[in-house]
Amino acid sequence: MQLLPDEEAVLAGESGGTRQQMMEILVALGKVFSAERLIPIKSAQVSGASYKTIGDAGLEWLSTLDARVAVPTVLNPVGMDRVLWRDMGIAASFAKKQEEVIAAYARLGIKLECTCTPYYIYTTRYGDHLAWSESSAVAYANAVIGARTNREGGPSALAAAIIGKTPEYGLHLVEERRPDLVITVEGVTDHDEHAFYGALGYSAGKIAGNRIPLFRGIRPKRDQLKALGAAMAASGAVALYHVEAITPDARIFAYDGAGLETVVVEAGEVRPLMDTGRVDAVALGCPHCSAGELQAIADLIAGKKVKIPLYVFAARSVIEASPDAVAAIERSGARVYADTCMVVSPVMEQYGAIMVNSGKAFAYVPDMCGAAVRIGTTDACIRVAAGEEPDA
Ligand code: F3S
Repeated sequence: MQLLPDEEAVLAGESGGTRQQMMEILVALGKVFSAERLIPIKSAQVSGASYKTIGDAGLEWLSTLDARVAVPTVLNPVGMDRVLWRDMGIAASFAKKQEEVIAAYARLGIKLECTCTPYYIYTTRYGDHLAWSESSAVAYANAVIGARTNREGGPSALAAAIIGKTPEYGLHLVEERRPDLVITVEGVTDHDEHAFYGALGYSAGKIAGNRIPLFRGIRPKRDQLKALGAAMAASGAVALYHVEAITPDARIFAYDGAGLETVVVEAGEVRPLMDTGRVDAVALGCPHCSAGELQAIADLIAGKKVKIPLYVFAARSVIEASPDAVAAIERSGARVYADTCMVVSPVMEQYGAIMVNSGKAFAYVPDMCGAAVRIGTTDACIRVAAGEEPDA
């Protein structure tokens, strides 16, 4: 890999031990993937921020770092709402450790937004190079925006944030963004909302694995694309997908799919995933809700009172920009939390069965929360939380 003179100087330790360590991570990664150079990035998103996932070993390593990020950088969700953690029932001992993790990142200059939806925080454009690590954010950036990021690990995203660059390989290269297979979906209706796209993504991710699928036969809107990609990133390892005539690279490169493996998925095979059964709590906002999704929940929940806990998760700045929707949701007895989510927070571990409207949460909740999981539409989730029949 060719380094510029100033990059060589960083590698030699001339700008401090932490920057040297971070450059070593990027160079090692670049060599593994045969990158020819480092390229500047517009923003970074760093995973490994929840004390639940990184523990004391991660905290100790973070505490040794002494540098500042070179580009706008946010964190992945952490283990609690930084303001309302007591209200969530988080133990003070956990909260103390979580604050230490957050403080270690703050010392590096990272913005204290803890979200898997950095695209609601920083303007991100087609063709921007990024170093994002949360898998649903990566899928959204690549597929929906047409920005370019590999699925970074926590350390490589942090290294890129501090150096301001990333090795040029993988999805940063146009030729690496072509589809590997075609998934034709039959029988989709206009009534299929984003829980359906989550369930479809859950099935499609198992088919695609880490390949790049090109979808035909669906016309998802933005939040539905978010649900589709998040679920594929979780049940498979999809970091980029295309939807014919919808997503930017699909339009620009006009893929014809000729010669590619084609798989047909019947919508009728996907819908049975969305069954019901015993539910102890309901969780919405995986990935974190957009302002439009908060408003949709507020509209659906108007006039209802929840009978079992209903949690809604979103980025702090999205919550602060949506005071009316948040107030309307909380009038029902539901709670809206920032900075965290149903998977990285320990709060959901108290429940035996959790209902979600997300294919990604559907994939992760059993292992991460030790709970049974059900998936339904947003409307069904709210009805169940309010003690009503899900499909009334
Ligand atoms: Fe985001 Fe947590 Fe889901 S990080 S994508 S809300 S599992």
